[in-house]
Parts: sequence; structure tokens; C-alpha cells
Amino acid sequence: MTTTTVTAAPVRAVGRGHVRVEGRDKVTGAARYAGEVPFAGLAHGWLVLSSVARGRIEEIVTAPVLEMPGVLAVLHHGNAPHVETDFVGMMGTRPDPTCAVFQHDRVPHLGWPVALVVAETSEQAREAAESLVVHYDEQPHDVEFSAEDPDARHVDGHMPAVTDKGDLEAELAASAVVVDVEYTTPEEHHNPMEPHAAMARWDEGRLELIDSNQSATWVVGDIAQLFGLDPASVHVRSEHVGGGFGSKGVRAHQVAAVMAARVLQRPVRVVLTRRQMFTLAGHRSPTIQRVRLGAEADGRLRALDHRSLSRTSTVYDFVEPSAGVARVMYDADAHHTENRVVRLDVPSPTWMRGPGEAPGSFALEAALDELAEKCGLDPIELRLRNEPDKGPVSGLPFAARNLRACFEEGARRFGWDRRDPRPGVRRDGRWLLGSGTAGASFQAGALPSTATITAEADGTFTVRIAAADIGTGARTALTLVAADALDVPTDRIRVRIGDSAFGPAGIAGGSMGTRSWSWAVTAASSELRERLVPGMEIPAQGITVRSDTTEAVAALARKERHSYGAQFVEVAVDPATGEVRVRRMLGIFAAGRIVNPLTAKGQFTGGMIWGLSMALHEEAARDAYFGGPVGADLAGYHVATHADVPHIEADWVEDVDPEDPVGIKGIGEVGIVGVAAAVANAVWHATGVRHRSLPIRPDRIL
Ligand code: MOS
Repeated sequence: MTTTTVTAAPVRAVGRGHVRVEGRDKVTGAARYAGEVPFAGLAHGWLVLSSVARGRIEEIVTAPVLEMPGVLAVLHHGNAPHVETDFVGMMGTRPDPTCAVFQHDRVPHLGWPVALVVAETSEQAREAAESLVVHYDEQPHDVEFSAEDPDARHVDGHMPAVTDKGDLEAELAASAVVVDVEYTTPEEHHNPMEPHAAMARWDEGRLELIDSNQSATWVVGDIAQLFGLDPASVHVRSEHVGGGFGSKGVRAHQVAAVMAARVLQRPVRVVLTRRQMFTLAGHRSPTIQRVRLGAEADGRLRALDHRSLSRTSTVYDFVEPSAGVARVMYDADAHHTENRVVRLDVPSPTWMRGPGEAPGSFALEAALDELAEKCGLDPIELRLRNEPDKGPVSGLPFAARNLRACFEEGARRFGWDRRDPRPGVRRDGRWLLGSGTAGASFQAGALPSTATITAEADGTFTVRIAAADIGTGARTALTLVAADALDVPTDRIRVRIGDSAFGPAGIAGGSMGTRSWSWAVTAASSELRERLVPGMEIPAQGITVRSDTTEAVAALARKERHSYGAQFVEVAVDPATGEVRVRRMLGIFAAGRIVNPLTAKGQFTGGMIWGLSMALHEEAARDAYFGGPVGADLAGYHVATHADVPHIEADWVEDVDPEDPVGIKGIGEVGIVGVAAAVANAVWHATGVRHRSLPIRPDRIL
């Protein structure tokens, strides 16, 4: 036994840059990812995906494959265990039937999982999977996404499909200046560096899953429901995660691994290939968006109308809620917003990098730039003239809205006042130069979480929480939060995450991870400090307390709660080749208290790079004839690389959520929002031509 002291001196780790606590493990390869954890007796599963885009499986010719070296089993709809799909999961939705593999003979899209071949080695499983013959009764499919689709429907997703305020048509008719434009964004894919991977093992009725995910709690809940298990008998670990971008919830490979492990009574690992990720990991739907703005001559908005159409599968309604951003950004006398979807023979889309706001802000913020031009107003001035003092549609008060400060600080740092507003008049040799700006916002929420903290006998503290660090630096942020909350230096804090045994916790998603978990860590710290008296003896097993923020987050006042940002971009356009080079990017954010400036900068600039990538590169072409994505790999699907990323700077203004115990709002996704519009607005400023379809490819410039 030893004695401990909780010092009285303020340490203030929050707000000071701290390197990643697991950084050394990551760069030396000591950090193990889900597909790398060694396991005795491990068998390997390889998914077989449909080669037709619609139809029925007539026959799966398993006999020859079962004779191949090392092959242990072929699971398919004829022999797989039943799973239950009639439930509402942690995220408040029914599971995407795509996860419930091998339950019937229908094929609703190309790349639908039809079988899992399990073998002694990964190579044997792959060879056998590629040899498996499947006969289909193929039916005509439709993957063509069109604004004229008569089957487009309103679906309330995580937000209402439609909002209406005031008399839109009357305000438009009475407006001095009207902008009525259509924008499109393409199908986009997540492509985290680490492919999806899961290893399942059954041990006397208990299931262990080593997995790459954005929430162990989410995976436990859905897997338990799918297999009819007591959640207490499911244990999910995901210590390190190499990116998620929204794609790492519960998906087909985990379910297939769990099934195979049960059937074979041995551990089974299933890893997706990059190519398989293009149909099994979810994606961002393409969008077609119409924005109508009506304004007085001085730029004050009378009417704001934003309508978005997205695409989903025939088995699951996922809405890309692009029009949602128009409900919070700017004031207008009349507002109309709506999100609709069409069902086509494609995989189900899912959340991806700023879902809704990322494509929605492209349309809204580009349309505002067009309005500024028509009004002869500076684009920043136009936005400031339409700053709302309460939620423009909800009427709710703002928790804190510092968008104005972002624009003012950004304009000063970018040198906006030296900008000549005329388009197409600046040259640097063969390059036309231009600059553009756009506003950004992203919802700031919190999810219930539990944390435990143990005051150890050696004077250190162990924090346990089922958080997921998907590359954001969450583990490090929680170390800083715990150090301040316990008033001790960071080297006395040990944070353990990625383990469902630590109790339920919110997801690493919706920009809510660090905020939700910090809340629980702060609450547990307060309780522990009440238990610890200076000089008291700590028993060998330590003193452990547990927090649960379910009631605290439920009591958050209903307010408009968002992070904000102002994006600034300078581009050079070569009118001979159509090449667009981004030369300079600046993002200024008001995103709550910044816990770790070092990793926060990485997250903001990372988000801005997603935006650059969205503006100029990312696009999955879907072939109408065979129904699948063309070039489903990192050679065919372009993401921004180092050579594309110019001088880029992210910073923030003072901003605090007054109702959060640490003042946090959330920084995960606001970095991407508005970037594509800022690039498009800069391309217009360079060339005098509006580009309303992403990505702004060279052939579109010409
Ligand atoms: Mo993010 S798309 O909410 O993981």
C-alpha cells in the first residue's frame, strides 16, 4: 500500500499540444490492428460477392470447392444460421439487411455477399472463393440516378424529410434578385487506410470479436440482437482502428465471421479487400440538389429553398440529408428544405465524412456566391447580412454561434480585403488565379457514455472507456481531460479504450466521440476526487468509480448546437489543360474548446483535405450495364495525395459550449464542410465560369 495525493495546483493539460500517447506503438508497428492479432487455430473466411446486380441465386456449386486444399466450409443461404433483423439498434435505426448475410436467395445489387469460403489459410480461402461457381437467375437492374425519377420519396431519416416556414413562393416572387440553380455531387467511398476486418471466437456460449470499428458498444448491441445473445456474453475489442469515416459499424464481414466461427467451432477471421470495400463498406450517395434564393437588392434573404435528392438501395432507406444545412446556416423570411431518396439496385449508402453537410454545403454555399455576384456584394458581407439570431427554422436559441468571428479572423489572415471581386482577371503565366470562401457548420451533440477510473496504489490513475480512436487522437485527448479533471500531470494517467467490457459508450462518429467520452471521464473524475482524501491509503486493488452520463446528456437544453467554420481557398486554373491546382487553404473554426491543439490541427486539416479531394478528385463511376462501380480501387478512385495538398492552415477562435463540462463541441467533421464550395467559388473567380458538378475535373473545365 502507498499513499496518494491529488495536488491542488492547476495543471491545465487541456489546450496544450500533446503528442499521441500511442504514437510510438503506431510508428514502430507494435500497435496491432484487427486483422493482425495472432490467434491459435485461426481459420480464414473469404467472402464471395454476387456478379449480377439483380436476381436470384439458382445454385451454388460447392462440391468441387470443398475438395480444394485446406477448405473447411462454404456458408451460404442454404446452410447458414438464421439471424434476427427485426430490432432497432443503438443508432435508433433497424439494421441494414446487407449485414444479415446468407438469409435468402435474392440479390439486390452487384457485390452482394452470397457465400463465405473458410479455409486453413487466407490464400486457400481466396483461391477457393474465386473458384466457386454460382448460377443466377439474372433480372434487369436499374442503377441510373436521375432527377426525374418518379419514385423519389420523402423518408424521415435522422431528421425530418421536409421543413417549411413562411410563404416561399410569395417571397421568391417579391425578391429583387433570384438565384435558381442545380448542383450535383457523385457517389463517393470512404476508403479508410485499414480495411474492415473481424476475428470471431466462441468459447462456451460466449462470443469474442476482435474488430475494427467506430464503437465496440454498437457492435456488441447489433451482434447480440442478430444472433439472439445476451449482450453480456458478447465481448468486442478494437484497440487500434485505421480510419472509419462513417463506414465502420456492423457490416457483413463481422456477421459472416461470427457465423463461421459458430459452425466450425474455431476462430475465424474475415478481412475485406479494398475492392470488396467498394460494395460492402457503404458509400456516400450521389446527390442532385436544387437551391433557390430570393433576396432584396441589399442581399437580405427573403426566400431560401434547398431540395436534395439522393439514392439508396432497394433493401434499406438511408437518406443523405443534404438540405439539413440550410435549416441552420442563414436567416430568411421563408424557408423550404427537403431530402428525398430513390431506391435503385445499388448497395446501401451510409454516413460518410460530414453526412448531409458536406454535399449540402457545396450547393448552398456555392449558390450564395452566385447571389453575391448578382447583388454586387462581397460574399462574406452577404453571409454576415443574413446571420440569424436564433435557429432560422427551429426558432431555438443558439448554444454559441461564432461564425462571424470565423469569417472576420479568416478574412484578416487570408488577406481577403486585397481581393479584386472581378472574375477572370488575374494571371500567373499560364495560370488563371482566383480565391473563394464558404461557411461551414456541423451539428454538435453528445451520446450517453460510461467511464470507470481507478486510483491505483502507485499514485497513477487508470481510465477505462469503450471509446474508439479511429485516428483522431481520442486516446490522447481523454488523457488530457482526465489529467485536468483529476488535477494531476498527464504521466499519471493511463487511458484504456476499445473494449466493450468497459461498459457502454457513444460512437466515434457524428463528431461526438471525444465530447461524449470526455463528459463521462469528467463525471467519473469528480466522483473519484470526492472519494480521495489527501494522504489516504489506497488499497492494492485501487479505488474505482464509475460514471454514467445518460441523464446528463439527456438534460442538455434543446438549442441549435453546432460547430462552425469559414473556409478560404486560392486556386490556379490552367485553361489549356483544365487542371485546377489549389495553392492555399485556410480554415478558421469555432468548434468548442480545443482539447489537444496538435491533433486538432490534424483533424481540421484532414477534414479540409477530404474537402479538396471531394472538390477535385473523388468520384465513383457506376456502370449502367453491369451495375457496379468502375475502377473500384485506389488507382481508379482518386483521393487527394500529398502532391495535391498545398499550403494548408487550420486555426480556431475562442468558442465554448457553455453546457458541456469541458466546453467541447466537436471537431471531427466540420473541417470538410464548405471546402468544395470554396474551391468552386475560387474556380469561378479565376475563370468566370460556374462549375456546379463535382468533382471539377479537367474535362469539365475545358
Ligand atoms: Mo462520421 S461520417 O459520423 O463517422
